[in-house]
Amino acid sequence: MNTNNITKTITALLTEIKKINSIEAIIQWDQETYMPEGAGDFRAEQISYLSELAHHLHTNPKFKKELSKLVDLETGETLNPNTDNNTKFLLYLVWKDYKDASALPPSFVKTLSLHTSKSQQTWVKAKQENNFKAFAPYLEKMIRLKKQEADYYGYTTTPYDALLDKYEPKMTSQRISSLFNEIRTPLVQLVQHIKNSPFTIDESPLKQPFDIDKQWDFGLKIAKLMGFNFNYGRQDKSAHPFTTSFHPTDVRITTRLTENNFKSALFATIHETGHALYEQGLPTSDYGTPFGDPISHGIHESQSRLWENQVGRSKPFWNYFFPQIKELFPIPLKDADVDNFYRMINTVSPSLIRVEADEVTYSLHIMLRFEMEKLLIDGNLTVNDLPDVWNQKTMEYLGLTPPTNKEGVLQDIHWSMGAFGYFPTYALGNLYAAPIMKQAAKEIPGLEGKIETGDLLSLREWLREKIHTKGRRRFAEDLIVDITGTELSAKPFMNYLLEKYSKIYCLESV
Ligand code: CO
Repeated sequence: MNTNNITKTITALLTEIKKINSIEAIIQWDQETYMPEGAGDFRAEQISYLSELAHHLHTNPKFKKELSKLVDLETGETLNPNTDNNTKFLLYLVWKDYKDASALPPSFVKTLSLHTSKSQQTWVKAKQENNFKAFAPYLEKMIRLKKQEADYYGYTTTPYDALLDKYEPKMTSQRISSLFNEIRTPLVQLVQHIKNSPFTIDESPLKQPFDIDKQWDFGLKIAKLMGFNFNYGRQDKSAHPFTTSFHPTDVRITTRLTENNFKSALFATIHETGHALYEQGLPTSDYGTPFGDPISHGIHESQSRLWENQVGRSKPFWNYFFPQIKELFPIPLKDADVDNFYRMINTVSPSLIRVEADEVTYSLHIMLRFEMEKLLIDGNLTVNDLPDVWNQKTMEYLGLTPPTNKEGVLQDIHWSMGAFGYFPTYALGNLYAAPIMKQAAKEIPGLEGKIETGDLLSLREWLREKIHTKGRRRFAEDLIVDITGTELSAKPFMNYLLEKYSKIYCLESV
């Protein structure tokens, strides 16, 4: 790392904060994997202690004083006129992170964190009991607090943008709306065509028992071939699959094994390994400074979705791996061949639950959530009306009506924890992944043939060079322009889906 003009003191302080954050991440990972159930209350104290400590170091007068030697604290402009552009951008990021960290008064942080924990607990119970009314007042208060939070951060057009910025820096709701507008109708139509197709896929072989230990081993084998370095990471089990990183040399993924659902663990492992490769590829020499961090949630998700869908659900991938799973699981797959297996892992069927959605309908689940959370934050939709609007939009986009709020508005944890602005980053991941993969296919000679022979490393190397090692040196959309030479658009994603699924479902014209 050339810290050039960043004073040693600032770099040291940032690294110290990052180390505390990473220790916090370790005990959070432990909480989700090995911690005994009874330790929850004390673990919460430990986590909040470390998080307050890191926040204190970031916002105390010493940090401010050091930073003020380098940038104008009001505008973020670099003071030294001879600073090169790279360092200017680094200093801007240091300043922006500092501004965000110090924007919220401690009393507000306390109120918000207290309410978040109550709201989440209430949501868990409300979901179990299908009781939206019990959760409604907590959600109302959460929305009030998030608007207040947005006011502290500041914004130009809508408070939603201030919240979105925490997950997808520089992205705006207006830009997202225009991207989503490009795919809304074509997606709904594609789903309709698939629904009307006389061609059906029998998925039942994948619901037969698949030996759990063999599933685990096979997942590890794929992760290894994808280039996940087990010297610098490991896989464990948890209730919900996730990836966390403490440093590029220590990256953890988790998976969840289900005997009667072969797809579940397999694609969770590929997805999380995609996230993990990004983390393992970040520049170690920049650790502690913003350049050592990933760009955004959306870019992170582009890496997991690229591997999960564009590679892991592709024909070349299974041309290589199918003979191996047929040998591993001869009973459930006795009548399967690579063609019908490929179809089984690519079935499209509108469903009510986002986390179980296929590649085609997934973005529709996100769009309806994005539209509603924007309305809620802008004050154009009341919490009382939310369940009805949810059901209406689900009908409009997916042609389904949730029988209860449990399968509808209460299904996701995000709003109960105040994560407004998070949802759209999942769909952005799809939109970023498509042009990235298209470019990879152009630049890596014979990429499909390579994947077909089990060479997944060529793709990882390319992603590493173009994305991972860059850290946070670019904003998401600028990175896409760097890689592809054109502005981000939803077309590559839509074209990819149309091409793939008209073949799978034998659609004549779409
Ligand atoms: Co993900």
